[in-house]
Amino acid sequence: MEHICVVGLGYIGLPTAVTLTLGGFSVCGADIQPAVVETLRAGRAPVAEPGLDEALAAALASGRLTFTCETPEADAFIITVQTPHLTQSDGVRCADLRFVESAARDVAARLKPGNLVVLESTVPPGTCRRLEAWLAAGSGLAEDEFHVAHCPERVIPGRILRELAENDRIVGARTEAAAHLACGLYRRVATGGRLRVTDDITAEMCKLVENTFRDVNIAYANELSRVAERLGIDVFRLIELANCHPRVNILSPGVGVGGHCIAVDPWFIHGLFPDDTPLIAAARHVNDQKPLLVADAVQRRLAPGARVCVLGLAYKPDIDDLRESPSLALCRALRARGVPVAACEPYAAAAAVDDFDNVPLDAALSYDFLVLAVGHTLFKERRADIAARPHYDCTGVLSDNS
Ligand SMILES: NC(=O)c1ccc[n+]([C@@H]2O[C@H](COP(=O)([O-])OP(=O)(O)OC[C@H]3O[C@@H](n4cnc5c(N)ncnc54)[C@H](O)[C@@H]3O)[C@@H](O)[C@H]2O)c1
Repeated sequence: MEHICVVGLGYIGLPTAVTLTLGGFSVCGADIQPAVVETLRAGRAPVAEPGLDEALAAALASGRLTFTCETPEADAFIITVQTPHLTQSDGVRCADLRFVESAARDVAARLKPGNLVVLESTVPPGTCRRLEAWLAAGSGLAEDEFHVAHCPERVIPGRILRELAENDRIVGARTEAAAHLACGLYRRVATGGRLRVTDDITAEMCKLVENTFRDVNIAYANELSRVAERLGIDVFRLIELANCHPRVNILSPGVGVGGHCIAVDPWFIHGLFPDDTPLIAAARHVNDQKPLLVADAVQRRLAPGARVCVLGLAYKPDIDDLRESPSLALCRALRARGVPVAACEPYAAAAAVDDFDNVPLDAALSYDFLVLAVGHTLFKERRADIAARPHYDCTGVLSDNS
């Protein structure tokens, strides 16, 4: 397993390709977007991630990393394409596996006996079995002539390169041979973490239950924030005090839950087992509703005609990822209530995001009312300036003296 093809060069695929290259493999990264491939060939990373520019430069300098739009032949293929959710005709949301299926088709066209295909994308249970079938149908090989494993990616944006090396990895496979090959590959790069081998379905579920655990716990915190608003007490202080108990660990409320993982993955379980998972669906609804409740709370505090600036559109601090952004949902909700609203997202270069003006922080400070939606470091550093303006804090940053 010396020649690796990483299929999909987004937030996960690119750092993975770079890490594998620096671990000594020859890597070809494939992406269907020509603009992504061109940017990478010019030595620039299309996604912002600490340390990635330097690591990319080192990987390219090694001569072992190339980029292409066409999936090439390889010893092992690592699929890291996106897995969004879609709403079915009955209204239940589930995983959209079109990107995985299309990546499988591309890999199948190159598949040779003995190859390993690792699915890193987050998927519902049973997807690896479907992947095997897609690969067999597309390649003409029998399912026992190639190997499939699922190694779900569990890194967090902002620490991806570090966690790729340090995190424990789940290696799930239907056969021992596939698990053995996948372990051989990851052992060379996951140098600080343990490889934990299991079957493919447990591995698929493991990633989903981790994110669902967080979604449910955050929903509890968000629900508490509603009660605290009614009681006129500070929810962050309430949770801080409750967490002093040795067996309580409530997560933090916020403007909502966003991103490609926590706001999406719970649907992959609920979509398959809707009758068995009412708690998971309830948590999703609580978290999806939160931006609307923040809009109500802000509106109650506004003087007539006041202009609002929402500070932070990314789904978490210090990253540029706006997918499933609850702050954007808040902006839309405020506009729908007739409130003039702009945004301040220092990680987005554009002058407007989703039709909302994106202003620098100094300009934002002249708005009548500020909503602190994301705890970016830049905002923490200007905490006093923000707190001096009429504001609503979704993050707890302004009451946190640490
Ligand atoms: N972003 C995260 O923080 C994170 C963390 C853990 C797990 N994950 C999971 O990892 C997977 C990838 O997420 P991401 O954030 O990197 O997605 P992304 O959208 O940033 O990147 C996916 C890339 O795959 C490319 N692609 C799609 N179909 C392709 C094909 N057939 N061939 C080649 N390229 C193709 C797209 O053009 C895109 O560049 C998802 O399943 C996600 O849930 C993401």
